[in-house]
Amino acid sequence: MRVTAILLAAGQGTRMKSSLPKVLHPVAGKPMIWHALEAIRQSTTEKPVVVVGHGADDVIKYLGDSAQTVLQEPQLGTGHAVMQSETALKDKTDLVVVCYSDMPLLRGETLQALVETQKNNKGPISMLTVHSDDPRGFGRIIRNADGTVSAIVEEYVATPEQLQVRELNVGGYCFDADWLWDALHRIPKNPKKGEYYLTDTVELASKDGLPVQATVMSDLEETIGVNTRVHLSECETAMRRRINQQHMLNGVTITDPASTYIEIGVTIGMDTVIMPNTYLHGKTDIGAGNLIGPNSIIRNSKIGNRCKVLASDLESASLGDDVDMGPFARLRKGANLGNHVHMGNFGEVKDSYLADGVKMGHFSYIGNAQIGSNTNIGAGTITCNYDGEKKHATEIGEDVFIGSDTMLVAPLKIGNGARTGAGAIVTKNVAEDTLVVGMPARAIKKLERKVKE
Ligand code: UD1
Ligand code: CA
Repeated sequence: MRVTAILLAAGQGTRMKSSLPKVLHPVAGKPMIWHALEAIRQSTTEKPVVVVGHGADDVIKYLGDSAQTVLQEPQLGTGHAVMQSETALKDKTDLVVVCYSDMPLLRGETLQALVETQKNNKGPISMLTVHSDDPRGFGRIIRNADGTVSAIVEEYVATPEQLQVRELNVGGYCFDADWLWDALHRIPKNPKKGEYYLTDTVELASKDGLPVQATVMSDLEETIGVNTRVHLSECETAMRRRINQQHMLNGVTITDPASTYIEIGVTIGMDTVIMPNTYLHGKTDIGAGNLIGPNSIIRNSKIGNRCKVLASDLESASLGDDVDMGPFARLRKGANLGNHVHMGNFGEVKDSYLADGVKMGHFSYIGNAQIGSNTNIGAGTITCNYDGEKKHATEIGEDVFIGSDTMLVAPLKIGNGARTGAGAIVTKNVAEDTLVVGMPARAIKKLERKVKE
């Protein structure tokens, strides 16, 4: 059976007060519409159709070829929006799932169950409802004596009795396609707003004498829709809790989930401990047995096993196993650390490889460099890699000892086993097993020591 989803994303989202289209606002690092598409994927067999309107160019650009898009212009309501996809879908699908793209918490499993319900429904519509004392402006569900649904009444047209109803329209539907295409043309224009409401199809079915099935959802959280940035933060919190729980169930210790921010797509191995106030962003993969945080920010990076990353900032970096870093280490793009590397406070590494066992304890900058295994980088060492126009490379061999405060003026090569004295300014290549020193302090006068009475 062919099942296709139509995702409505043409509305303006005025209440977000934003120049960014509402559906592109991120939740846990991915745009709201990404979450909606993800949920849809499990329950459908065909490529989804996204109805775009406001901010269409940006939304289409984001979607790429992950969905077909149809334009709704002007936007005359949710029924009118679905109607725009009739040409694209007529005779190409048996069931149609309709969702709103501002509900990032709706689960794939929920939509799957909805589709199953419709497969067994003799009538043309199955839909999701929820009971809540806070109606949040949702449409109210009106049921017949036999339990089938007779209508959805939008809040602002509801009578006082209807407003008391606490069963609400979630905004997830599965339709018999052929019935839907016909019914859309029968939706009456709403007299107050001049719009065509998808929700009116329920009353049409009921009047045709066809049963509408409603599944009551138990998880209220899933139904949070985003109309304002306050709702957006509620979604973010709920999504964060969900992601953290999944990691914990997979064997990760999260000391304080409320202050741990892990985006969608991050992977974490067993027995890794994530300490408070840690942010894991983007495509980040963390192995097993690590101790991450407190206070670390890691983006698009790869971390091996048994590492310690204390109060550090990593971006597009990679660590081998047993790396020990921080507090206050900073790895920028292309920083690649081997196994057993030690990086202490206030070090910065960019576009460089530090081989196994390199030690870089304090206050150093390493950029555009290759550093051989077991080399020691003394406190205050700087690779002077930029001459104002170009970046230049530094190559340091194995078992090298770079003395404190050495300036390594690139391009530069330092051979295996070499040493530099403290404060050396190295401008020429250094051969293997050679000691270089520079500018030792000279005595310039004898001082009189003043003895305090
Ligand atoms: C809608 C439902 C309401 C339900 C609530 C759940 C209708 C008429 N009402 O109300 O019963 O309880 O969702 O969240 O459907 N959109 C378009 N084109 C349009 C209008 C809207 O694509 O012309 C899209 C919006 O971008 C949005 C979705 O449809 O993604 C829902 O529209 P919105 O205005 O948010 O509807 P609600 O007032 O929330
Ligand atoms: Ca809404």
